[in-house]
Amino acid sequence: MDIDDKNYNLSVKLDKTHLRNPTMLASGILGISQSIFERLYHENIGAVVTKSISVKPMKGYPNPTVIPLGGGSYLNAVGLSNPGVNAFSRELSHNKIIPIFISLVGSSEKEFSKMVKGFDALNILGYEINLSCPHVSKMGMEVGDDPEAVNKIVKTVRMNTNKPISVKVGVGSIDVVELARVAVDAGADIITAINTLRAMSIDIETMMPILSNRIGGLSGNAIKPIGIRCVYEISKKLEVPVIGCGGVSSWKDVVEYMIAGASAVQIGSVLGSRGPRIFNQITTGLKKYVEKKQLKNIGEIIGISHKY
Ligand SMILES: Cc1cc2nc3c(=O)[nH]c(=O)nc-3n(C[C@H](O)[C@H](O)[C@H](O)COP(=O)(O)O)c2cc1C
Repeated sequence: MDIDDKNYNLSVKLDKTHLRNPTMLASGILGISQSIFERLYHENIGAVVTKSISVKPMKGYPNPTVIPLGGGSYLNAVGLSNPGVNAFSRELSHNKIIPIFISLVGSSEKEFSKMVKGFDALNILGYEINLSCPHVSKMGMEVGDDPEAVNKIVKTVRMNTNKPISVKVGVGSIDVVELARVAVDAGADIITAINTLRAMSIDIETMMPILSNRIGGLSGNAIKPIGIRCVYEISKKLEVPVIGCGGVSSWKDVVEYMIAGASAVQIGSVLGSRGPRIFNQITTGLKKYVEKKQLKNIGEIIGISHKY
């Protein structure tokens, strides 16, 4: 933690660990290279979540994979392209100072157990289990929509690590609070909410779906009120720290998520237009807010809206 952060006290507690401030990189955005994580760290990020990693490398879908929809919203179906557990553990092998959560994706307990065994000796904070990607078959949300599979996967990860585990939930066919409850009962320490929402866009000239995968996930500004609602409901009903995600583009959005009940907040799509500097801009805004409201620590606002 640097002196600046101590002065303004933006530090937050996340399970057994402390972040110097509540900002985090959302999974899948700039998430596979140690040199980028270092750049983000110098921009004052609180913690990084990597791209979701699978046991074997995945190529992902052909282009187009990301479409800007205007108004700060996006549609994507990247197809979880990633280098796989072996190459990625080499990438992170020299990590010393950056607080990293590795995002894991897979379709069976066996795959999750292999990944945690491959990563657990690294200098990382913990894991985020992606049970909510809405556009890859037999992974992500297809697993997250099956409570029995969620229970088994989270228990398996729990058995293989003492590090904090967050489970990333989304809006699928199961109520988000129920899904979070299954994850917590199975051993999750933190819940991240939310992933992208299953969505589609069609070109009226060619009459074809625009994404090569046809269906993708909606992110950015349009989904923020849904993210806020999910964080509010989960944090009100479950005794577990929640990480908010979806549609954050300014320090005000971070504050809104925290008042809804988030202990930390992830930032994704907006990086495409604003770049890594947004983390510094957001933490500067948060410091001013803490001063203006005369808070000792930003954590004082977590879940305040539950009173009303
Ligand atoms: C291009 C792209 C790739 C993504 N890849 C992943 C991923 O690998 N794993 C994951 O859990 N979420 C992934 N997401 C979802 C984001 O982490 C985040 O939950 C979502 O985009 C909402 O946040 P935002 O509105 O700030 O982008 C991806 C999103 C985008 C736009």
